[in-house]
Amino acid sequence: MVVTTQKLIQWKQQGRSIVALTAWDYAIAQLLDAAGVDLILVGDSMSVILGYETTLPITLDEMLYHAKAVRRGVKRALIVVDLPFLTYQESLQQAMHSAGSVLKETGAQAVKLEGGYPAMVETIARLVQAGIPVMGHVGLTPQSVHQLGLRQQGKTQESAERILNEAIALEQAGVFAIVLEHIPTDLALQITQKLSIPTIGIGAGIHCDGQVLVTSDVLGLAERHPPFAKVYTNLRDTITQAVQDYALEVRERKFPS
Ligand code: KIV
Repeated sequence: MVVTTQKLIQWKQQGRSIVALTAWDYAIAQLLDAAGVDLILVGDSMSVILGYETTLPITLDEMLYHAKAVRRGVKRALIVVDLPFLTYQESLQQAMHSAGSVLKETGAQAVKLEGGYPAMVETIARLVQAGIPVMGHVGLTPQSVHQLGLRQQGKTQESAERILNEAIALEQAGVFAIVLEHIPTDLALQITQKLSIPTIGIGAGIHCDGQVLVTSDVLGLAERHPPFAKVYTNLRDTITQAVQDYALEVRERKFPS
């Protein structure tokens, strides 16, 4: 059974939690898909894997290149691709062109873009009207790192109300799901109860309709990770050990045996 945007909404109604992770190439995508991940996000967080300090420098061409590789590895999961910084904020025409390129060139089924009320609502409504499925993203939005930092959002009543209203406006604009990043658990619960579309949390507590993590954090590949990430294995150590073992065997002429 292939995962669709409609399926995610149905799963919310049934109380089935949605499993999402990020991917950046064929090999990782194939492993995640075969392991049963429902939604694969080609996130601009792959900036970490590409050696960028923030998500700001990554380009649409880089996202397209990696999304195509991910697409080749996936049979079942829904693939969502992030629109990078300043490839959708300038004008509706720019957003349409960027989102259209993702769908036409990569074979992914949807795009995600950051931000809400009022700037992004009109843009999202028009993309959705054009037949482009859009996932929203509110709370901590890393493309605004130089304004927000990487701090938890929604801690004051005013900020919590703004995020709640943004989520409602994005649902009305037609997003099929919404990422809630680094906000208090009770605010995520309130948004999740208010919306008919699924909320996918990252650092937003247990009550969201699904969870997403950055796969390089989960696998222990990243040099540092946010406080809310869970590192399930340490591939940095595993890879270092394997490479050192290989190097030793080559130097001692034990490989090939
Ligand atoms: O780019 C990304 O990986 C994301 C997640 C943090 C949701 O947007």
